[in-house]
Amino acid sequence: MDETKAAVNHTEMKIKSAEFVVSNSKVEQCPNSALPEYAFIGRSNVGKSSLINMLTDRKSLAKTSATPGKTQLINHFLINKNWHLVDLPGYGYAQVSKSTKKVFQKFITAYFEKRTQMVCAFVLIDSRHAPQKIDMEFMQWLGEHNVPFCIIFTKADKLKPKVLEKNIHNYQAEMLEIWTQMPEFFITSASTGTGKDEVLDYIEAINQQLRENA
Ligand code: GTP
Ligand code: MG
Repeated sequence: MDETKAAVNHTEMKIKSAEFVVSNSKVEQCPNSALPEYAFIGRSNVGKSSLINMLTDRKSLAKTSATPGKTQLINHFLINKNWHLVDLPGYGYAQVSKSTKKVFQKFITAYFEKRTQMVCAFVLIDSRHAPQKIDMEFMQWLGEHNVPFCIIFTKADKLKPKVLEKNIHNYQAEMLEIWTQMPEFFITSASTGTGKDEVLDYIEAINQQLRENA
């Protein structure tokens, strides 16, 4: 019994420190560091800043911007002095001529292609909405480029439990039309703190595995 408990506690994460490091528009200028990093990304208004603040117990670590989509920066935060949390701006189609070619903002794709420290991307999805084309396509792009990712369904408090359950079920069904497996996913609420421990413990488990393999 006690051993099991110790093993579980081992991958529990408490936030002891969270500091803003730097904002960059170019992946080449991101911190020259071997620390594992976890990227948070999703469409504008999905609740990214709120989630980052909820996870880190800070009121305004991630700034909520009055002009969404305007700042195109890669923001690094150092957590517990041993991993980076990266706040990426929302993705959308790059403005490429009249064609409907799916090209995500260049610096976002460059970030995922070049940042080898990035061990897991968290793709945020608003739990209230049916699957959106752009999110599906973005995850497909990640898959095609071998970028490991998880899904975080946000704003769970805005739905009645039954509706939430139905939405997640629908999302899974749609994902399984493309993927052989549903990626790891989490259900969160920045208002109630739902999902906080699950996301942090997941990160800690990866950190621990990386340390053991080092
Ligand atoms: P941009 O940076 O503008 O792209 O948005 P964002 O994805 O960072 O979203 P943000 O955290 O600023 O949240 C957008 C709105 O949703 C705000 O009004 C938040 O208060 C609200 N919100 C975010 N998360 C939650 C949540 O879990 N529950 C509820 N009820 N509201 C939320
Ligand atoms: Mg934001």
